[in-house]
Amino acid sequence: MTYFFETYGCQMNYAESASVVRLLLDLGWTASDSADTADLVILNTCSVRITAETRVFGRIYHFCAQKRTRKLTIIVMGCMAERIRDELKKKYPKLDYVVGMFERDTFVEIFHAIGAGRTYTNSVSTDETPVNSYHFAQSSYEKGAFQANVPIMNGCNNFCSYCIVPYVRGREVSRNMEDILAEFDTLADQGVREVTLLGQNVNSYHYVEPETATIIGFPELLTRIARRIEVKNRIRWVRFISSHPKDLSDELIEVIARERVFCRYLHLPVQHGSNRILEAMNRKYTRESYLALAERIKKRIPDVALSTDILVGFPGETEEDVEATLDIVRTVRYEAAFMYHYNPREGTKAFDMQNRIPDEVKKERLARVIKLQHAISTELMRARVGLTVMVLVESTSRNNPDELFGHTELGEMVVFGGTLDRTLIGQFVEAELTGLRGRTFRAKIDKRISDFS
Ligand code: SF4
Ligand code: F3S
Repeated sequence: MTYFFETYGCQMNYAESASVVRLLLDLGWTASDSADTADLVILNTCSVRITAETRVFGRIYHFCAQKRTRKLTIIVMGCMAERIRDELKKKYPKLDYVVGMFERDTFVEIFHAIGAGRTYTNSVSTDETPVNSYHFAQSSYEKGAFQANVPIMNGCNNFCSYCIVPYVRGREVSRNMEDILAEFDTLADQGVREVTLLGQNVNSYHYVEPETATIIGFPELLTRIARRIEVKNRIRWVRFISSHPKDLSDELIEVIARERVFCRYLHLPVQHGSNRILEAMNRKYTRESYLALAERIKKRIPDVALSTDILVGFPGETEEDVEATLDIVRTVRYEAAFMYHYNPREGTKAFDMQNRIPDEVKKERLARVIKLQHAISTELMRARVGLTVMVLVESTSRNNPDELFGHTELGEMVVFGGTLDRTLIGQFVEAELTGLRGRTFRAKIDKRISDFS
């Protein structure tokens, strides 16, 4: 039997989809090239914006219509399945299963039932499902991949006033540390070179070791990961997202500075530059404390690059507030930023706030922030031309199959001209950055870095 997956939203969703794909493969299913011929379609959904949900409504409608002419099972999972489960079931009676965030262990039974031509009925009422019953998948490794995501915590306790995540993913739950370390061993054996630790707020990682009752926080987890990796020495880059600036401790900065395996690239979402707006967003830090933190990080880890998220057009935002945001962008000089404008999200506190900013004004303000950030990113990238850096070679280039493609520790794209040596795919190389075209470096390979050097 064949399946087709459509995933929306953040990396956590992609990691969760990959873990369900693994389960399907283990049960003998095969991937279909097309959603329109698959026996099973799974939509892993995101609730962060109305547009993301509207798109999924369209997809569900499309697949339900197909059921008139062919045999097909449709499953909706992810954040929409958690947020509007009943509405989905009512609106689309032909939808077979809606699997909420805390019921993912029912997938095995569902897949067995589909294989046997039965319908699976969950005996537990969804109202009884405890919110702390989130299950971390054993692994979200995708066959042949050099990069892997490892979820370490789920949920969020912060309730930023614009964000739906705490309502769909529930409160923070941390994954067992031994499972995380064991997953690193498995990934190293499978040829993975780069790992990203995932969580809505990784800095809140909190695990109590059963034998010793020792509390393991995020800095200690990173230290243990660094020691574990030394044994195999194949995974050279470890990253993590997302960090809440209010929780990023000096102890964590020390660990990153000390352990070279952690990429010199930190994502530190600022969201806004104005204290008034930060307070309305319930971010729990000030512009001054954020800038002081960025300064401490840069001082202790001089080769670090910072990236961020910026949310423009929050209710009540004035021109002065926009200036404060532009100023923080100029001061920190981010390597990259994910910039977006505010969209009211039903079910969040900010939804009821007065003084919404008109769409044209939001767009114009966002354009100004994007223009400034792009100029800074380009300047920073240009300044790196001529340097020799480590690059993970990932594939042949999409635009030219005679060239190799990879990325740097800072996540920048790199294309290598010259002789094509496919054996370099999946390897780290030292390369000289020889030029910049748009957002992609051109580079020349100096040498291959062997696994155990
Ligand atoms: Fe949402 Fe704020 Fe939690 Fe991030 S920290 S997931 S923005 S509530
Ligand atoms: Fe979207 Fe849920 Fe992620 S709302 S951004 S998929 S946590």
